[in-house]
Amino acid sequence: MCGIVGYIGSRRVIPVLLQGLKSLEYRGYDSAGVAWPEKGELKRVRAKGKLSILEDALEEFRATATTVGIGHTRWATHGEPTRENAHPHTDCSGSIVVVHNGIIENYASLKRELEAQGHRFSSDTDTEVLAHLVEKYLDGDLPEAVRRALQDAEGSFALAVLWAREPDMLVAARKQSPLVLGVGEGEAFIASDIPALLPFTRDVIFLEDDEMAILDRSAIHLMKITDGTRVNRESERVTWDAAMAEKAGYKHFMLKEIYEQPQAILNTFRGRIEPETGEISLPEAGLTPETAKKLTRIVLLACGTSWHAGLTAKYWIESWARIPVEVELASEFRYRDLLIDDSILTIPISQSGETADTLAGLRLAKELGSRIIAICNVLGSTITREAHGTVYTHAGPEIGVASTKAFTSQLTALYILALLLSSFRETLEHETIKQKIAGLIKIPETILYHIETWHDTSKKLASRFYEATDFLYLGRHLNFPIALEGALKLKEISYIHAEGYAAGEMKHGPIALIDRTLPVVATIPRDHVYEKMISNVEEVKSRRGIIIALGEEGDENLSQLTENLIELPRLPDPDLNPFIYTIPLQLIAYEIALARGCDVDQPRNLAKSVTVE
Ligand code: F6R
Repeated sequence: MCGIVGYIGSRRVIPVLLQGLKSLEYRGYDSAGVAWPEKGELKRVRAKGKLSILEDALEEFRATATTVGIGHTRWATHGEPTRENAHPHTDCSGSIVVVHNGIIENYASLKRELEAQGHRFSSDTDTEVLAHLVEKYLDGDLPEAVRRALQDAEGSFALAVLWAREPDMLVAARKQSPLVLGVGEGEAFIASDIPALLPFTRDVIFLEDDEMAILDRSAIHLMKITDGTRVNRESERVTWDAAMAEKAGYKHFMLKEIYEQPQAILNTFRGRIEPETGEISLPEAGLTPETAKKLTRIVLLACGTSWHAGLTAKYWIESWARIPVEVELASEFRYRDLLIDDSILTIPISQSGETADTLAGLRLAKELGSRIIAICNVLGSTITREAHGTVYTHAGPEIGVASTKAFTSQLTALYILALLLSSFRETLEHETIKQKIAGLIKIPETILYHIETWHDTSKKLASRFYEATDFLYLGRHLNFPIALEGALKLKEISYIHAEGYAAGEMKHGPIALIDRTLPVVATIPRDHVYEKMISNVEEVKSRRGIIIALGEEGDENLSQLTENLIELPRLPDPDLNPFIYTIPLQLIAYEIALARGCDVDQPRNLAKSVTVE
């Protein structure tokens, strides 16, 4: 986690660094700091807590004329979230300063060696060893000292280094942690991801693993960390604009992103499906009818919400394309004795494209010969660069830590991919594919039409139940993963304990939890398991549990079961239900978290992009 920024150019540096850090705060927010050179000396301001505290501490320095500096927002891995452990970290002389995202795995042994050589440490962080290593190797040539220091370091890093005695240069480097460089007129930027650069430039260079960059006001030079050989790479233009990354009048990013789902879903299917002809176009997946027919299995690999998208897609792929699908938690997959070979297609699913476990699983599957097609939202992220092909979700930047629009756009991409596989494998009639495409195309307007009503009902339900201490979410078939996702949304932003369960499993244990204080959220569309769901909910009712039901408009069975009802439209095809049932569950979680006074966009202990194990 952690976000890093760097700037060299002609603007006053403090406002530039603060603006960059604000858009990276979702990556970590337990402490923050910046450093800049002034008259040959290094200035450094750090603060424990949210960025706003650092901002206050920097008030008196805002007008400094300095035009170079680096900054950091932290999510602690080594060392408590204190001011002393906040980045930037310096060497003994206090002139070399480093910000870092990642983990230096051999920091303890490096620290012992450096201490034996006389270096004095002032934090508990792994990062500080980097500042002292650079100091050890520095002989007038900063890039060379950084290069040598990084050869001693094992682990992952994205970093920026500044030396107060050479203030016309910044050095950046990356290995297994994200880093992007921004290119401007007479200025250059370093950031952990693109939104931090968008207020300043849309021209970016993605640093690759084991590369470093030297930035000055006129150019950016890239080189290999291993041997210093020069790397040539042109900048790329990104299409997101800064406004897309702002809150646009909503109280929270999460709410804005919930409301953006019609657009995100549309952006994901636009240009890829053709309702008239039933054509599906996903050339980026690199699949052909021949390769699709030869597949023996599909592995969907992900964490958290993205894993729930995978669980949902399993129903579609198996039923339509007739291929066995395994949905793997990446953190488990990577430590198993894997049965993977070149007849298996592996699909890592990741919003950020940087999740460490998903990336590690991708690499293992790739080594074992599997073809890798990623489903990803972030352009140029590591997962997209290591996969053989990527189906981008085009949801736009997702800033709220709780994933919302990324989830429904992942569902969209997976739905289309499942249809493509069915078409190539000739397992669905062309007419059926056309109908499924026509159904998907209507989803954005269906959500747009109903979202305000769902939101109003969610507010009422939140006001009734926000003080509950536990929730149970039930669903069957396609709505089982949606129940898991509903429970995850609630627990991560409201800190209420919530469990998602397959409704049929309730009688095997969780039914013991039911009493008159437990709200049970049940998703009950009129699909082929409707009757079974109704029986499960009756079981809850007869034990005096509180029922919150999501079901179809006009369903009298449901209105007799409970007054806590969210009505959804009947869709032409029950396979589409996950797209709409998800949304009221997001809104209920949001409204409950709000009623409890929680920090919706930055829940405690979490970070948006989990780039460590
Ligand atoms: C929950 C949430 C997380 C992520 C998970 C994977 O709301 O956001 O569970 O889904 O950390 O992240 P990505 O999709 O970036 O790999």
